[in-house]
Amino acid sequence: MLAAFRDAPHGRRFEVVRKLRRALAQPAPDATGDCFDIGEFKSFEQFETKYRILATELGYEGKVPAPGEMDFLHAMVDRDDIRHPGGIGSRDYFFLTALVSILAPRRVVEIGTLTGFSAAIIAAAIHRQHDGAGLPSGRNGITVETIDVQTRCLIDETRATGFEIPELIPDLVSTVQVHTGKESDFVRELGARNEFGLAFIDADHRHPWPLLDVLRLEPYVQDGGWILLHDIKLGTYGRDQRQTGQAPEGDTPYGAEWLFDRWPFRKIRSFHIGAIELPSRRDALIPFALRLMEEPFEVTGKAAKRVRRALYQSLTDLV
Ligand SMILES: C[S@@+](CC[C@H](N)C(=O)[O-])C[C@H]1O[C@@H](n2cnc3c(N)ncnc32)[C@H](O)[C@@H]1O
Repeated sequence: MLAAFRDAPHGRRFEVVRKLRRALAQPAPDATGDCFDIGEFKSFEQFETKYRILATELGYEGKVPAPGEMDFLHAMVDRDDIRHPGGIGSRDYFFLTALVSILAPRRVVEIGTLTGFSAAIIAAAIHRQHDGAGLPSGRNGITVETIDVQTRCLIDETRATGFEIPELIPDLVSTVQVHTGKESDFVRELGARNEFGLAFIDADHRHPWPLLDVLRLEPYVQDGGWILLHDIKLGTYGRDQRQTGQAPEGDTPYGAEWLFDRWPFRKIRSFHIGAIELPSRRDALIPFALRLMEEPFEVTGKAAKRVRRALYQSLTDLV
């Protein structure tokens, strides 16, 4: 509470601490949440079967893939040999496609663009559901807003972040807007509260960045909406690799994994990728967030201080 007092916006400190205290006094939700594990989407045959199971789980019993969806996925898999590193793999984009196709959101916000691969996958799935029709006016037909802190693509600085989008979805380029040099708080410039049907977080995986991204995005995600998290097994994967004497490629932080595992509300896992459902009472996120913030930060130094302050700012916006 002392930290909350110190980092809350000036002029609202006592109010914030009082409200956080009240939120903490609420009965704690089930410690681990109700997790439905659909397993990996390993093949095209599994895509169709698991699609139906996922649809039933999400309350859309009988829904099947849209026309053209399988052809698009085949085309993506055929590109696997020329894929750029860093983007989501086929098992994950099968799940991503199924989720977007079933929920059929009109607008999605993504954190972590890189080449634009996952943004293109999302845009294609939205298009197949709505065929460009009925998009909110004033948004110029943009269905995917994708945000990345880097202006030049992290894996190839000679190219702009999001460079792959025109190659992957030439007919739908205008439906994706790339915002670079920005973080998740930029979402407030992109939509109204409760506007997005789905959010995808695939950016800085070091604890507590994924938590901060969730808290910043959630006001802009519809009631009962879902937030998708990538790399929810990354920490364990790195630990297992090291235990068998192998050196994992790159860092393997636990941020997304801890967030997903401890999410106390409904959630769906498909191996490395998982979706968390927002609770109907958003202030129920406060005790969960404060508890997760007690885990040692994987972000260090001045950056840790900045992230902690931003977390309290987001919590303040919740109360
Ligand atoms: C794993 S890549 C994203 C891959 C992409 N979603 C895909 O599957 O095609 C992570 C991206 O997040 C960006 N990033 C890292 N920290 C960020 C932050 N705090 N806010 C926004 N973007 C961030 C990086 O610049 C990088 O491009």
